[in-house]
Amino acid sequence: MRITYLRVSVTDRCNFRCKYCMPEGNQEFIPHPEILRYEEITEIVRVFTTFGVKSIRLTGGEPLVRKGLEELIFQLKSIEGIEEVTLTTNGYFLKEKARTLKENGLNRVNVSIDTLIPEKFSFITGRERDALFRVIEGVEEAKSIGIEPVKINTVLIRNFNDGELEGFIRFSERFGVEVRFIELMPVGGKFFSSENFIPASEIKEKIVKQFGKLVPHKTKKMGPAKSFKIEGTKAVVGFIPSVSEHFCSECNRLRLTSDGKLRLCLMSEKEIDIKGILRSPSYKRENLVSVVRGALLLKRGINGIEALEGLGCSRKMFTIGG
Ligand code: GTP
Ligand code: 5AD
Ligand code: SF4
Repeated sequence: MRITYLRVSVTDRCNFRCKYCMPEGNQEFIPHPEILRYEEITEIVRVFTTFGVKSIRLTGGEPLVRKGLEELIFQLKSIEGIEEVTLTTNGYFLKEKARTLKENGLNRVNVSIDTLIPEKFSFITGRERDALFRVIEGVEEAKSIGIEPVKINTVLIRNFNDGELEGFIRFSERFGVEVRFIELMPVGGKFFSSENFIPASEIKEKIVKQFGKLVPHKTKKMGPAKSFKIEGTKAVVGFIPSVSEHFCSECNRLRLTSDGKLRLCLMSEKEIDIKGILRSPSYKRENLVSVVRGALLLKRGINGIEALEGLGCSRKMFTIGG
């Protein structure tokens, strides 16, 4: 599979504390000097374009807590070969930032919303209950200024949000957004358990039974999600069965962590230190080119599911960016 997509985590910090992502208690974050500077990120992306990367997704932590993100977007969009820059966010700062982000070239945005009930939203994110309304206003704003598509990420959690399918379907219709149901992955500390886990297939069956047939929806397919329209409605839903279905053989992506490690797979521990090369006093672009070439060869031999079956990775989700 050709690697066309690089996920760049710009920070491990976040203003939320989602239970499936960050372990409880005080978090130790990566010290600032260890975080890649914007000019380092753009240099890395330049090198990646020579290998065919066209799409950059900015992730976190929460990418919008890092200052000047719009400037980074502008710089990335100016790199020859980069066709789109997209963002995955918790949406808290989206309302105020959407316009500037779009003006600087942001193409698409994915927003996490796991529940539409304010008290539950507060429980899962660790924020005030009204945070939900802020996030929804962010979604509205992004849509109204023409960021397209805006997609919603909903992590499936048993006895938490599996009773909200109707709400999510109405939400999809009302705001014109695809709601993607994501299987809970064992990467965020102790929250994952077989009791909390819901296979995406179960939700799919429920939707078909209660709301109508699922008709494959044509989207520009970049990632692992499979999208469907619900017949007879305006709703579009997607499924990301990260745990129950193996899509490693179709994987088109690499990940850059905020501390400058190139991660070959979300699940596998194999990482290559890119920052060390960039910060070496004798740095030359060709050094990075040859390391990236090697990494791309290594990626072919990776099967993330094997790592997952070994009970997940030791890095926390917020340091990888999902
Ligand atoms: P687009 O398809 O470009 O919209 O992006 P995306 O769905 O890949 O990005 P997003 O950041 O919204 O991720 C949604 C969910 O998919 C997150 O829970 C990710 O962890 C998961 N995901 C994304 N890429 C991979 C992958 O390569 N492997 C696995 N197992 N899960 C992934
Ligand atoms: N399982 C599944 N999805 C997760 N995300 C974060 N942690 C997990 C997990 N343990 C999702 C977030 C966000 C995306 C980047 O990753 O909900 O939408
Ligand atoms: Fe923050 Fe996203 Fe992790 Fe929630 S899932 S704590 S919003 S990084």
